[in-house]
Amino acid sequence: MDIRVLQSSDLPLIQHANLENLPENYFLKYYLYHAMTWPQLSYVAVDISRPRKTPYDQPKIVGYVLAKMEEEPADGVQHGHITSLSVMRTHRRLGIAEKLMRQAQLAMVETFGAHYVSLHVRVSNRAAIHLYCDTLGFHNEKTEPKYYADGEDAYSMRLELSDIR
Ligand code: ACO
Repeated sequence: MDIRVLQSSDLPLIQHANLENLPENYFLKYYLYHAMTWPQLSYVAVDISRPRKTPYDQPKIVGYVLAKMEEEPADGVQHGHITSLSVMRTHRRLGIAEKLMRQAQLAMVETFGAHYVSLHVRVSNRAAIHLYCDTLGFHNEKTEPKYYADGEDAYSMRLELSDIR
């Protein structure tokens, strides 16, 4: 498995993965905005073990993290935000999401001097909550009622990045 920075040519595959894995979907231009504005912050996981059948056969993207810096932080503190993270079902529980998140967090600090990283997650999403809280050390700041279009609440989470600053 190779973790590398997201390239613009990956975007259609990222959008496909997002549609497969999450109900929160975006227009292609929103992915492009991330890639153009914060090119250091988003990563993909590529399965390099799959044999190439033709020279045009590209390695398969099996996960991504789409990340950004908050453009006008309400608290005035420079911080990053995870817009979307997913790993294809065939490649889950191999530590890919943890690696993608740690890469994005490091880049937020190294490139933009981020003090913390924030995200939203559905209150029912046990896998992601385990990853964020138990594996990565995020804490729940507050619950935002009916944050999602279908009425589900979100946990608004945050991880201080002082350890890697
Ligand atoms: N139930 C409980 N714990 C789980 C589960 C699960 N289904 N899946 C992973 N974990 C745990 C792992 O055991 C590991 O814990 P450990 O550090 O104690 O050993 C930890 O979470 C990290 O596991 P990874 O293998 O790195 O996670 P994975 O690559 O499988 O991806 C993810 C996790 C991204 C949540 C994946 O299940 C997925 O794509 N789900 C659908 C999309 C999604 O929910 N994305 C997050 C939405 S929130 C947002 O985008 C900001």
